[in-house]
Amino acid sequence: MRIIRTVAELRERLEPERRADRSVALVPTMGAFHAGHRSLMEEATARCDVVVVSLFVNPAQFAPGEDLAAYPRDEAKDAAVAAAAGVDVLFAPPVAEVYPDGFATTVRVGGLSESLEGAHRPGHFDGVATVVAKLLNIVGPDVAFFGQKDAQQALIIRRLVRDLDIPTRIAVCPTVREPDGLAMSSRNGYLGAADRARAVALRHALDAAAAAVAAGEREPGAVASSARAAMAPYDVEPEYLALVSADTLAPVERLEEGGETLMLVAARVGPARLIDNAILTTNGSR
Ligand code: PAF
Repeated sequence: MRIIRTVAELRERLEPERRADRSVALVPTMGAFHAGHRSLMEEATARCDVVVVSLFVNPAQFAPGEDLAAYPRDEAKDAAVAAAAGVDVLFAPPVAEVYPDGFATTVRVGGLSESLEGAHRPGHFDGVATVVAKLLNIVGPDVAFFGQKDAQQALIIRRLVRDLDIPTRIAVCPTVREPDGLAMSSRNGYLGAADRARAVALRHALDAAAAAVAAGEREPGAVASSARAAMAPYDVEPEYLALVSADTLAPVERLEEGGETLMLVAARVGPARLIDNAILTTNGSR
């Protein structure tokens, strides 16, 4: 596996692959790899001939006061994980390569970026959309891989490539969980033992919502109440807990038979801000 730091070198590395008509995958990341990242890399190596993983802690997606400085960074360890997963190129540019002096462009996906995470993290999705648009332009992948854990991000990126006619397929892979159900996240490392035990509250909220729907509940307010009640024993208060359309993120008025409702939850647990989600259907959840 080669570690590349500049756009020019990356394009030079990929040029012969393109000429040979080999398919290229991109797995965009901010590093601190866990099993969730590994599953994206494995899916990418299974589906494409050449796999590029980008490792860039993107300052533009951290709102003022967020954890940019504290965000975990260990490139040597990440490189070993990526190499073991069969990745061909680790693209790890410095900030000045991505945002050179005079950089003045922001990509904003209207509507979808404004609610939920967008409402709680001002500017976050503009930073994500801008860097992802850049990475897609730099790498020109056939397929780019993202995790369902960041469900709103995945919807925004699908809209971005559609609206800007970017010829990349977006693959969204299932959330990978710890044995007790906690969704894998680089931010789980912030949790001490007591907060780690409380963090399962998010998963229990999703399970309680799914159980309420399975028992016949169709009113979003009542489903959300079951979810909140499941978090209470852990002393975890949701920042938001929402039942929305899985396509538009618009709040649902009623869970339709056979339809899909996206339930999203965010909560602060000690020093970590965690998010999770599930697709609720009237015949089961995932
Ligand atoms: O999901 C992430 O890790 C980041 O938001 C992404 C997509 C790599 C953009 O910086």
